[in-house]
Amino acid sequence: MLKEEIVKLITAQSDLSSDEIAELLEKPHVLRPAIGGITECGNNETKGDYALACFKLTQKIKKSPQAIASELAGQLKPAPDSLIASVKPAGGYINFFANPVKLTPLILEAIRQKGSQYGCSESGRGKTIVIDYSSPNIAKPFGIGHLRSTVIGHALYNIYAASGYKCVGLNYLGDWGTQFGMLIADYKRNRELYQQLLYKKFQFITVSLAERYAAYNEETKSNPDLLDQARLEFQKLEQGDPENLELWRNFKELSLTEFQRIYKLLGVEFDKYSGESEVNRDIDRVIGEIQRKGLSEISDGALVVKLEKYGMPPCLLRKSDGATLYAARDITAAVQRYETYKFHKLIYVVGADQKLHFRQVFKVLDLMGYDWAKDCVHVDFGLVRLSGEKMSTRKGQTVLLEEVLDKTIELSRLAMQNRTAELKDKVEPSKVETVARTVGIGAVVFNDLKNQRIKDVDFNWEQILSFDGETGPYLQYTHTRLASLMKKYDSSLPPAGPGSEYKLPEEVNLIKQMGDFPEIIQRAADKYEPSIISNYLLNLAGSFNRYYRYHRIISDDAVLTQSRITLGRYLQQIISQGLNLLGIKLPEAM
Ligand code: ARG
Repeated sequence: MLKEEIVKLITAQSDLSSDEIAELLEKPHVLRPAIGGITECGNNETKGDYALACFKLTQKIKKSPQAIASELAGQLKPAPDSLIASVKPAGGYINFFANPVKLTPLILEAIRQKGSQYGCSESGRGKTIVIDYSSPNIAKPFGIGHLRSTVIGHALYNIYAASGYKCVGLNYLGDWGTQFGMLIADYKRNRELYQQLLYKKFQFITVSLAERYAAYNEETKSNPDLLDQARLEFQKLEQGDPENLELWRNFKELSLTEFQRIYKLLGVEFDKYSGESEVNRDIDRVIGEIQRKGLSEISDGALVVKLEKYGMPPCLLRKSDGATLYAARDITAAVQRYETYKFHKLIYVVGADQKLHFRQVFKVLDLMGYDWAKDCVHVDFGLVRLSGEKMSTRKGQTVLLEEVLDKTIELSRLAMQNRTAELKDKVEPSKVETVARTVGIGAVVFNDLKNQRIKDVDFNWEQILSFDGETGPYLQYTHTRLASLMKKYDSSLPPAGPGSEYKLPEEVNLIKQMGDFPEIIQRAADKYEPSIISNYLLNLAGSFNRYYRYHRIISDDAVLTQSRITLGRYLQQIISQGLNLLGIKLPEAM
């Protein structure tokens, strides 16, 4: 709409192609949103609805950005009936301002027409994106770091699906490696204990397996023989020993049942549980290929690919005892994935502590001659830091996700109980539990998604559950508020007309913000950054809540009421869609 008109206007006055111009046009408030979303509205007034970044043209035009901006702006004369109201140079930018009377009805019409598909696009049509996320390790705890991967990966999955891509969500379980040697050796010493574990299937089985593993590991320090035994058992496993394979399968199944409880709580699903064990069938072939291509060498008995030239330490493929290593497995898995999916992109949602690992893996794939190596992306993220009350766990060190979720739900339940009077006519008692769960989980998920993923996350229960901070519950609450407004109003009335009745600057601003939604989704996809959507939603909800504080939605003026209800209805829809993309559910009432 507006963008197309601006592109047209500039093409007529310059020898830039429309693609080049489209590239240079930015939405300043989308690119550099006021942090936090609780800013005053109307900030577009000085920034322009679009800005052309002229400093990117200095190569081509050989003048200063300021000169380019002022000269070009002087030549741009929008027609009187144009969507563009004015064009103004500002430093190295040219700002374009829309005519709100013309623009707002177009935005509202687009939302009406597209309904729940508003913001979605077909830009990924025919392309497959494979996303490797969550990927916890069997018989080790599901930590708070795996939660981040789960939550970010799930959001990205939804964002790409909304952009028309075919997505394949893979959970690459850490289901192979020496920890199984330890568990099997431990099992053979303590059969009775494990009989209980394996066949009674009591609740904290994963923790128990993780505890057994940790205990065994600890004991190896004083008793190195145990290491040899574990190595032997793992070797037998790798050679296909039936008893060991059976045990391995049982351990895996038990852990998986536990993980799936967590996924169910979070509402996350995977298209496929793959796993490190799955590369076994191809790993010799792929390592052979690396050798044949002359990329590897033996160093201290181990098989490695030297990467000095690229500023990296050697990539380790195989230990001297023949056991294959994490990198070799990832290289093989990538080859398998390309063979299976012919992906447009392969995304790994894994903590920033594995940065070097992925750089090495991608480099080796590149050296092997796979041009798709450039389509492999490590979407990294920061740590979760705990502030406020210290989280204590059985193990002291790792924080178990389940404990965090349970405690958050508990706190959210308590908060609901404290508000029973207020909630009595809103939520049926039988539904309180579901609402507490939805709010608690929503709080944890949003907290993981609200800042740029690479930043560390601060985890503070009180903050994340607050109804009026930058939180999931705040957005859920805004949504339920809108929903109850809609309920109060006779919903059988048709939506209001074209939109020129929106005279208040706050309304114009809200509509323009709603108009940004498609570009927000696009940008989140381009940057692998769900926080672009979370911040957008905070801004949008902030604008609405301020508007709502000063203006009545339902009044005696039927026409005005109807148009404001329409606004509310669309807002409700966008907030619900946005939260959906982030993987956050909506409570019935709060
Ligand atoms: N299981 C690994 C861990 O917990 C993460 C795996 C990530 N995915 C991958 N393809 N390496 O550290």
